[in-house]
Amino acid sequence: MKIIEVKDYQQMSNKAAEYIIKKVIQNPSIKLGLATGGTPVGTYKCLIDDHQKKGTSYQKVTTFNLDEYVGLPGENKNSYRYFMNNQLFDYIDINKAKTNVPSGIAADFQEECHRYEDLINQHGGIDLQILGIGSNGHIGFNEPGTSFASKTHIVELASSTIQANARFFNKIEEVPTKAITMGISTIMKSKEILLLVSGEKKSEALFRLLNEEISENFPASVLKNHPCVTIIADKAAIADLKVTT
Ligand code: GLP
Repeated sequence: MKIIEVKDYQQMSNKAAEYIIKKVIQNPSIKLGLATGGTPVGTYKCLIDDHQKKGTSYQKVTTFNLDEYVGLPGENKNSYRYFMNNQLFDYIDINKAKTNVPSGIAADFQEECHRYEDLINQHGGIDLQILGIGSNGHIGFNEPGTSFASKTHIVELASSTIQANARFFNKIEEVPTKAITMGISTIMKSKEILLLVSGEKKSEALFRLLNEEISENFPASVLKNHPCVTIIADKAAIADLKVTT
């Protein structure tokens, strides 16, 4: 794993966007794996800014999002489909038909999990997957204890995740308790992974990722088995590492 240290959230966002833009220019038909949450918002802003000023085109790009809340339709402001439209897709020239987010309102969720996994495979897999990390080490919505062999599946969210994500909802009771997420093996099949880590709240997770053994109890640790991972982390997230080294 390669770690790029940056000063702060803004610099992390700039670097991540530069990284993604370079890949899109090299391969205009790139299959991008995208994440939601607070971490990538700044990166998406930079992509929009670059698109408007320099004209980087996303017309041929296909995207696959990591996850979606079970029970939320795309029109719901807290759904990840809404988030992606609102934070990125509506402001670049991407073909919406090429943007994929698992359905939170499928009639048959088992079928939806298979459909999503197959869709990624039919497209030849993800070229570059953007990831954030939960403070308990979750990636996508793969909570501690998730099998490394998992494919797209339905999960019960950990109470720490529900609490962490309650900030986006009016009240904690509104946070869905289940989600549909790419599995760990789905994520690991990506040819390349870019993990973004920002802020003191994530410093323990980053420390554990780099120092603990690979274990299903800390899902992100699996990334150490991947041949091509780049971490962009800011000083606040790296602080814990400095204390011990
Ligand atoms: C969320 C998402 C993850 C995200 C993580 C961190 O629950 N499912 O994909 O990476 O938790 O979120 P944030 O960036 O808001 O800290």
